[in-house]
Amino acid sequence: MSRLVIISNRVSAPTSESGAQGGLAVALSAALQESNGVWFGWSGEETDHYTGHINFQRNFGVTTATIDLEAQDIDEYYNGFANRTLWPLFHYRVDLAEYERGFAGGYERVNARFADTVVPLIEDEDLVWVNDYHLIPLGQKLRDRGCANRIGFFLHIPWPPMRLLHSLPSHLALVTSLFAYDVVGFQTEDSLEAFLDYARHQLDVEVDAEGFVAYQGRTVRLIACPIGIDAVEFRASANGPVAAEIHGQMVSSANGRAMIIGVDRLDYSKGLQERFLGYERFLASQPQRQGGVFLLQIAPPSRADVQSYQDIRATLDELSGRINGEFADFNWVPIRYVNKGYPREELAGMFRAARVGLVTPLRDGMNLVAKEYVAAQDPEDPGVLILSRFAGAADQLTDALLVNPHSPEEIADAIAQALAMPREERVARWRPMIANIEEQDVLWWRRRFTDALESVQPAAVSAS
Ligand code: G6P
Repeated sequence: MSRLVIISNRVSAPTSESGAQGGLAVALSAALQESNGVWFGWSGEETDHYTGHINFQRNFGVTTATIDLEAQDIDEYYNGFANRTLWPLFHYRVDLAEYERGFAGGYERVNARFADTVVPLIEDEDLVWVNDYHLIPLGQKLRDRGCANRIGFFLHIPWPPMRLLHSLPSHLALVTSLFAYDVVGFQTEDSLEAFLDYARHQLDVEVDAEGFVAYQGRTVRLIACPIGIDAVEFRASANGPVAAEIHGQMVSSANGRAMIIGVDRLDYSKGLQERFLGYERFLASQPQRQGGVFLLQIAPPSRADVQSYQDIRATLDELSGRINGEFADFNWVPIRYVNKGYPREELAGMFRAARVGLVTPLRDGMNLVAKEYVAAQDPEDPGVLILSRFAGAADQLTDALLVNPHSPEEIADAIAQALAMPREERVARWRPMIANIEEQDVLWWRRRFTDALESVQPAAVSAS
């Protein structure tokens, strides 16, 4: 295997041998250990003046290389172009997308800074793997600096339809910069098709049956490559002592009531407002169920410097308060709304204790919570997954109860159906889902991507 250089905005150094820090970090860490590679990105820290100083660390066989960014970079690149422009636009929220030249300038500047800093770390035969929407133009900037390595890009979020992308002033430059890569990976066929639709209409491209697309002398291979979880590790967590302890506490605190669980970053793309309204509709339409069920919604705050995130937080505070005020009794609260995160082993125990997993994003590249919920279930007595049709995971988890997350009625009906579902049907739906999750796991995803990248001819590059 060639040495891997992974580049992403956030870098997650392993914190233990088994890697308690999440499936993606575990998978990438394993690849980095095997290939003796390096993971490069932003430290998450702010510095007074950008210096390009790299902080190297080696933890559990994985080398990380991080840089600090100055306040203007964080403002324009991370909070600005990444999270106020691209994130809402790519999640179909043109109404929330902000188009400011300062953001676009900061995005280009930070991508150039990443390129300047990482180029000396890249050796001739390395595979370079760039991740996510923060770094779309990085491949082009590496080529500009003479990097002739095989470079791949994987987009973890959806690719938007052409007509939405048109609203971005710099759409053409952003899309054409992707042709600097050798392989571009999307989560779903739907995203890949949306990209191709744009390329066919806006660019003079040639596309062949294998997914190779040629544009102005460069050929890129496009693949749909859905990310998975470390199913073995997550099932082991669900069967482990920490999960068992939390499961016991959940069961006793549920006091015989059925638990519905949601776990999401506090983000408007996750459909939390619509979810609460759907749950409210369920309570109103099934009065006999009131008092016998509760929703545990875990939502750790995220990107708190961005106004739209402050707004969704205020909306949910108000809505959860209103629903609880309307329906609660002296000995029952319908929604337990929690603004903090929990370690994965603890979440595994909570998932297992929940009769229903409610995963209803309005748009999501994949959604790994859906897969984790399924993986945590007791095979003899599994809970029911309610899943948005607009999550990438819906392509694979077709035996979930699939809902339109914009419809409170569909959510309410699905909750009622899930709570009434007999054990045989729950088992029959769970089995094909867990089979898919185990087969197309995070290792499968990583190999599929790196195999595609390894199989291309290194690029012919002329430095500009
Ligand atoms: C999504 C993105 C990731 C990002 C994560 C957390 O999953 O695809 O790139 O790291 O959200 O968001 P944050 O802004 O905290 O890094």
